[in-house]
Amino acid sequence: MAILKIARIGHPILRRRAEEIADPTAPEIHALADDMLQTMVDAPGVGLAAPQVHVPLRMVIFRPPTIQESADPREDEERQLTILINPVLEPLGEEMAEDWEGCLSLPGLRGKVPRYLHLRYRGMDLSGQAIDRTVEGFHARVVQHECDHLEGILYPQRMTDMTKLIFDSEMRHVIAEQRAAEQYEQSEPTEQEEAET
Ligand code: NI
Repeated sequence: MAILKIARIGHPILRRRAEEIADPTAPEIHALADDMLQTMVDAPGVGLAAPQVHVPLRMVIFRPPTIQESADPREDEERQLTILINPVLEPLGEEMAEDWEGCLSLPGLRGKVPRYLHLRYRGMDLSGQAIDRTVEGFHARVVQHECDHLEGILYPQRMTDMTKLIFDSEMRHVIAEQRAAEQYEQSEPTEQEEAET
């Protein structure tokens, strides 16, 4: 296993479409998955796509962080490490949500990105077994972000408001503004309702 060098925005590998993997069980694919996992843990990150380590193949790995223990074993399974090969994404419905994302290929930056809220994704694991999941929220966001890398797309290209592309170190201003807005909502419920219409 090895920690691999991560490509940063500007490197052409991040702009090209990655190639299908013919045999997920091939030893070199397993070795790549091992190296990607070690690289992701070291970074640290919650997801990584093969083009980010200069390999133009259709494989992503991700592990959405566990926020709390779930009583539903299926949810726990979804929070475990997933290695997804040749993914196919299918948004379920038109509903989008905006939230902050970071990317190991854009170190130090964060952006507020709209993503589909509900998603079905399919693909294969390292043994060639089919993966077919319907997910939502943060899990759906991570999968959309990682699979965009396979199309040569970085998250700023998905943004609709470039004033929301900021340095991570300035997030405290965003948090302060959110708190001020929440206090305003509590003190002026009527005006807030009007503002939303
Ligand atoms: Ni990324």
